[in-house]
Amino acid sequence: MVQQILRLDKASVSLAVQLLKEEKLVAIPTETVYGLAALATSSLAVARIYALKERPSFNPLICHVANLKEAERIGVFSPLARQLAVKFWPGPLTLVVPLQPDHPLSDLSTAGLSTVGLRVPGNPLICQLICHLGVPLAAPSANLSESISPTSAMHVATSFQGDARLPLILDDGPCPIGIESTILDMTQERPHLLRAGGLSLEEIQIIVGPVVCAVSSDALIKSPGQLKRHYAPQKPLRMNVLTPTSTEAYLTFGPGPFKNSPAYTLNLSEQGSLQEAACNLFSMLRLLDDSPTEGIAVHPIPFKGLGLGINDRLQRASFQKD
Ligand code: TXA
Ligand code: MG
Repeated sequence: MVQQILRLDKASVSLAVQLLKEEKLVAIPTETVYGLAALATSSLAVARIYALKERPSFNPLICHVANLKEAERIGVFSPLARQLAVKFWPGPLTLVVPLQPDHPLSDLSTAGLSTVGLRVPGNPLICQLICHLGVPLAAPSANLSESISPTSAMHVATSFQGDARLPLILDDGPCPIGIESTILDMTQERPHLLRAGGLSLEEIQIIVGPVVCAVSSDALIKSPGQLKRHYAPQKPLRMNVLTPTSTEAYLTFGPGPFKNSPAYTLNLSEQGSLQEAACNLFSMLRLLDDSPTEGIAVHPIPFKGLGLGINDRLQRASFQKD
């Protein structure tokens, strides 16, 4: 057996620890999306992530730790950064902080930067795995570069079918949040939002006051060309569509009714819940991408709460290949 998919439990966690210690890759469930994990301290292991994902450039990877104490061995936390970690970890928040001078991470994992993105994932067995390993995990989303992020073990298996370079996929069912973590840069005087995600800006601002938004809704609407194609289906995707064409599939939101609703229509949340919509986003995009249609039209999604993260993913998905 070159690749195993095992239910997440104590036995599969032990096997994962063994494989990771051998500098191999393991796909892990998190509350946001499935991650492609490797020892963050090993350049060989991290290089294997880039090779398997076919990532063209060396972006810094998020470093996953078991708790705040471990995070503080790697990064320097200001009082505000510590306050956010205490409030929201474990959870869908990545904090970018300056690296400690004696940090153990490989340069490939940090892309040679003097800062690091750290988070404690919400799945208790994954935190146990990191504790047993005694080493932080570098883990980007477990999909091929640019394609739709995985929110189930099956999505991961579809991307890397039987590939011996990924010997183990840990299966813990669908991800409860469904979009990647929110990334906050804590290295400047005011926190800066680098990526909208699974923790809403509103919740963060209750704790820290105004956050500088490098990714405001205005910026997204005005300059989609500046955004890199990412999270993308094979088919062309159009946003903010009220009337889809007869050859498109339709991804709707809210109770409707929807005009010209085609045969291949899926609703992100009939109740209009942005949490439910985030949770369904990537799996529904995959289903519509597989439907016999020429494109995907998406109904407007409100720009509040998790809607900021959902719109960010859709905007990048709609950006056409060169
Ligand atoms: O929810 C998530 O965050 C998932 C799960 C698996 O934890 N991980 C994830 O990782 O989305 P990835 O590699 O797909 O996205 C990491 C993002 C990249 O856009 C990278 O540029 C940014 O985090 N990042 C990481 N370290 C950074 C740093 N030091 N400064 C600025 N951005 C950083
Ligand atoms: Mg990703």
